[in-house]
Amino acid sequence: MTTSIDLEGRVALVTGASRGIGAATARLLAASGARVAIHYGRSRAEAEEVARDIRRAGGPAPALVQGDLGREDDRRRIHRETVAALGDPLLLVNNAGVYARNPFEETDDAAFLAAWRTTMAVNLESAAHLALLCLPAMRAARFGRIVMVASRAAFRAETDAPSYAVSKAGMVNLARCLARNEGRHGVTANSVCPGWVDTEMAQPDVSARRAEIEGEIPLGRIGTPEECARAILFYLSPLGDYANGTALGLNGGSYLH
Ligand SMILES: NC(=O)c1ccc[n+]([C@@H]2O[C@H](COP(=O)([O-])OP(=O)(O)OC[C@H]3O[C@@H](n4cnc5c(N)ncnc54)[C@H](OP(=O)(O)O)[C@@H]3O)[C@@H](O)[C@H]2O)c1
Repeated sequence: MTTSIDLEGRVALVTGASRGIGAATARLLAASGARVAIHYGRSRAEAEEVARDIRRAGGPAPALVQGDLGREDDRRRIHRETVAALGDPLLLVNNAGVYARNPFEETDDAAFLAAWRTTMAVNLESAAHLALLCLPAMRAARFGRIVMVASRAAFRAETDAPSYAVSKAGMVNLARCLARNEGRHGVTANSVCPGWVDTEMAQPDVSARRAEIEGEIPLGRIGTPEECARAILFYLSPLGDYANGTALGLNGGSYLH
């Protein structure tokens, strides 16, 4: 049996596609025929490199869209520019995210709140806002696919980074709310929940204690951005058509629930 995934004609908006999981996802979606809006925040050169890779591989011409996901006006502009460049995105990957340590041992409540608010705005509020902006066109098309890149942290008590864990739990439940509300319009929403993945975000921990981290993973290694991209593609492609409101754990067996 051979299987090939054809997303030709689909427009995908992938947030945080300048590097890591988002960049791998943008490349894979383009390799499957989708026209991809490569969103980035600060890393313009890296985003341009992803676009160059896609063109070199013969994929459909992508668009670059910049914006700070912590800012609501930027999110509206990101959506507007995607529509103007490529058409309505019926595939939305809410991937961009920030991780900040902000334990309850913090003695400065202003610093604690600042980290809390940034994390919630970038990871969670922006995912809901971009979904809101994309939904009218998805409903009109009677087709839409929304994927949250959440985390294993959604299901665990993360004592060093409660805001991160809560934002990711929020994303998983956001997908469920969307799934229940939008299924009747042909729109699905699901979450991919990675454990450790070899990207810049994980770099400080991985370089400090790789052996310890890998020792806790039954498969004995940290995941790759490409493995995450394949799980995201599952939900965006016909292979995942009947999945709605689910959360796919992708952690080599390090956390099972
Ligand atoms: N790596 C892991 O171990 C791991 C595990 C579980 C879940 N995840 C989740 O996977 C997703 C991708 O993570 P990653 O590991 O690929 O991280 P990464 O390499 O640090 O990339 C993060 C991406 O998010 C973008 N971003 C961050 N803050 C932004 C903001 N305020 N506005 C706009 N864009 C912003 C960055 O864009 P610019 O650089 O262009 O600003 C970058 O493209 C995140 O949601 C993360 O929580 C990662």
